[in-house]
Amino acid sequence: MNIKQTNLRHLQVAHSIKYILQLGDNSVSRLDRELLLATAIKRDITWLHTWPEYTLSKEENIKFNSLIKLRADGKPVAYIVGVQEFWSLELKVTPATLIPRPESELLVEQALTMIPLDEKWRVADLGTGSGALAIAIATERPNSKISATDISTEALSTAQDNAQSHHLKNIKFYAGSWFEPLQHREDNFNLIISNPPYIELDDPHLNRGDLRYEPITALTSGIDGLNDIKLIVKQAVEYLDINGVLMIEHGYNQGERVRDIFKDNGFLDIKTLDDLAGHERVSYGRR
Ligand SMILES: C[S@@+](CC[C@H](N)C(=O)[O-])C[C@H]1O[C@@H](n2cnc3c(N)ncnc32)[C@H](O)[C@@H]1O
Repeated sequence: MNIKQTNLRHLQVAHSIKYILQLGDNSVSRLDRELLLATAIKRDITWLHTWPEYTLSKEENIKFNSLIKLRADGKPVAYIVGVQEFWSLELKVTPATLIPRPESELLVEQALTMIPLDEKWRVADLGTGSGALAIAIATERPNSKISATDISTEALSTAQDNAQSHHLKNIKFYAGSWFEPLQHREDNFNLIISNPPYIELDDPHLNRGDLRYEPITALTSGIDGLNDIKLIVKQAVEYLDINGVLMIEHGYNQGERVRDIFKDNGFLDIKTLDDLAGHERVSYGRR
């Protein structure tokens, strides 16, 4: 039997977990297959490996094959299964939220080196999406008080669900554009973080991979991708304490221009950090 015939049979007949995972499929990676299989049978991946002889029911097999088809058609696995791991936390994601990226953990790492464990730092996360950055920081620094904003009320509602499912009480969510919902704050912030949209309008990557499925308002920011960063850096000055820090994630080729934007707005001690791929990814400066 050739591979094509095997796959056809596989679509129709329910098999064991072991058999399904052994079956090669060029269009869907092994890891994605495991995630989709676990979702189809409502178990986790550890269960799959513990019970490899388990044979799927007819309904589970139909469900699994429908999920595989969505993935083979290009839909991001995080949107199919509805969750994505970030900072070892399981987060709900929907097509209204960006899928949190591993490179954004760099921003969390750096923020944590600055926020003292036992102090009540006031932190703002602008454009919180699924709440990934705010939730990671709130978990690691329970004394901090975090204000998270997003222009998308749908994204914000997902972020709120995520904060609730991780039992976090130290994040407040606000709908509105960048600083606008924070105008009536009690105090200025010790730290402002943001992973804003920063992709250039005509970047060809927008037509490839997961980006095709993510909300365009979470991705692009004008011709050079810097519209929102310019706005955030300019306004941050008014919202930061003296010595407060602004930290921004940006495109791999935007480091120099972002440092200039910080400089033009009077920030001090401006630095940029590289991500694991060696690309300039996060810049920060002190007011
Ligand atoms: C690149 S995503 C980052 C999401 C999340 N912080 C993360 O790192 O996974 C940018 C987010 O900014 C939000 N956004 C876009 N324009 C905005 C605006 N004018 N004011 C507030 N949030 C905005 C989008 O809805 C989106 O959730």
